[in-house]
Formats: sequence, structure tokens, C-alpha cells
Amino acid sequence: MIEHPERMLQFISHGVYVIGVSDGAHQNAFTAAWVMQVSFDPMLLAFSINPEHYSYQLLLAGGICSVNVLGQDHYSLAEHFGRSGLSNKMAGFEWRYGKSGAPVLLNSLAYFDCEVSHYAEAGDHKIAVCKIIDAAQLNAGLPLLYSQTGGMDGSSEIYKK
Ligand SMILES: Cc1cc2nc3c(=O)[nH]c(=O)nc-3n(C[C@H](O)[C@H](O)[C@H](O)COP(=O)(O)O)c2cc1C
Repeated sequence: MIEHPERMLQFISHGVYVIGVSDGAHQNAFTAAWVMQVSFDPMLLAFSINPEHYSYQLLLAGGICSVNVLGQDHYSLAEHFGRSGLSNKMAGFEWRYGKSGAPVLLNSLAYFDCEVSHYAEAGDHKIAVCKIIDAAQLNAGLPLLYSQTGGMDGSSEIYKK
């Protein structure tokens, strides 16, 4: 039994991202910290997604996504996109469509526009391995770190279960 796993896991460095998804007709976005580069050639990113998220349905159906990097000023964005069940979650933010068709968050520091390559099983999550087809810096700033978000994701409650 590991005591306070949520505190221990803060030692593993992660950024904070908003992942935009689309099935062609509907768009959504969610906050994610479990994101990493996993290959040089081809250039691949992977992220871990809870299959209960609404975003997972759209990701599976559309096979595309954007990974948008949040900055130090984007704490409230991380909170907003970390909530589920909002009726119009995308409203009030500026978006444009990337080459893949995924929604790109214009307020982010940078984005990676991706096509899903394949999925891997990971316990109660799925790992989406994604080919980067486009990327650009949008704004200046330093990335927000997961360790700076405190208990925003409610992980201490999840570990207790
Ligand atoms: C800081 C933070 C990091 C998170 N990281 C992840 C993650 O890596 N993977 C994941 O599936 N959910 C993660 N979540 C939870 C989702 O953002 C959250 O459940 C969201 O409501 C899902 O949105 P949806 O149901 O609209 O798709 C994180 C939440 C926060 C606040």
C-alpha cells in the first residue's frame, strides 16, 4: 500500500494540455496531464484517456485530435476543460480547425495536430498513440505544470476508492 499516491505521483513531471477532439459533426475538449512524445520517426505523441469521457467517444469515431499546451496563466482553462457534462463546453473560447479537422485552442502556447495511429490498453484508461501531422507555437509563455494544479483533478479521492 503506497501512502498518499497522489503526492508521490506529483514527482513525475507532466505539463497540462487541452485535447480537442471531433467526430466530424461534434467537437469537445478535455484537460489531460498524461501526455508524452513516444517516437522520433514517425513523430508520435501518446496520451492516456479515461474511456468514460465523452471525448473518448468522439476520439474513437473521428480518429483525430489536437494537443494544446497550456501556459502558466491558464489555470482556469485547465479547470474548465477538466469538467464533464457541460452543455456547451467549447463556447467562449477561440478555436480554429487544424489540418486534421480537430479543434485547435488559439489561446494555448502551442498545439500539435494529430491523427490517431492506434490504441493500447492501460488499466482503467486507454493510451491513444497519435501521429503528429502539424504543429505550431501560438503564444509566448512558460508551460503550466501538473504539479501546479494541486488537487484540481480530484485524484486523491480516486486513489481512496
Ligand atoms: C489537471 C487535470 C489533468 C487531467 N488529466 C487527465 C488525463 O491525462 N487523462 C484523462 O483521461 N483525464 C484527465 N483529466 C480529467 C478530464 O479532464 C475530465 O474528466 C474531463 O471532465 C473529461 O471531459 P469530457 O467528459 O467532456 O470528455 C484531468 C483533469 C485535470 C483537471
